[in-house]
Amino acid sequence: MNELRTVSKMGYSEKVMEQFKNPQNMGKMEDPDGVGTVGNPVCGDMLKFYIKVKDGKIVDAKVETFGCVAAIATSSMTTQMVIGMTLEEAKELSRQQVAEALDGLPPHKMHCSNLAADALHKAIEDYESQHSND
Ligand code: FES
Repeated sequence: MNELRTVSKMGYSEKVMEQFKNPQNMGKMEDPDGVGTVGNPVCGDMLKFYIKVKDGKIVDAKVETFGCVAAIATSSMTTQMVIGMTLEEAKELSRQQVAEALDGLPPHKMHCSNLAADALHKAIEDYESQHSND
């Protein structure tokens, strides 16, 4: 019974619904240090991830998400998880870790969680390609 109460009709956990209803760090970042864009070939949704970097650490992250409930929830959660991480730590952040932080995603929605982690990793690559001679 308890388990039933924590999962919405769509199979989303309460944490997913919380993030979806009140997403954090959404929108465009002015003057980012790195930007990563990915599209989901399965559904055509898309996501743009922005990072601000200082002394090897991600000090701010924002995201523009054009996607489903899972994509919005994972985007929001990913920004919150990476702020404060070093670039090396953020590179290791996997979609499984993001899904776990949301108490899991329905199996058919796991592909949606690729977007945020992939876009984050691209944003880091973008940053590093601009700072390779530092
Ligand atoms: Fe497109 Fe989830 S259905 S990102």
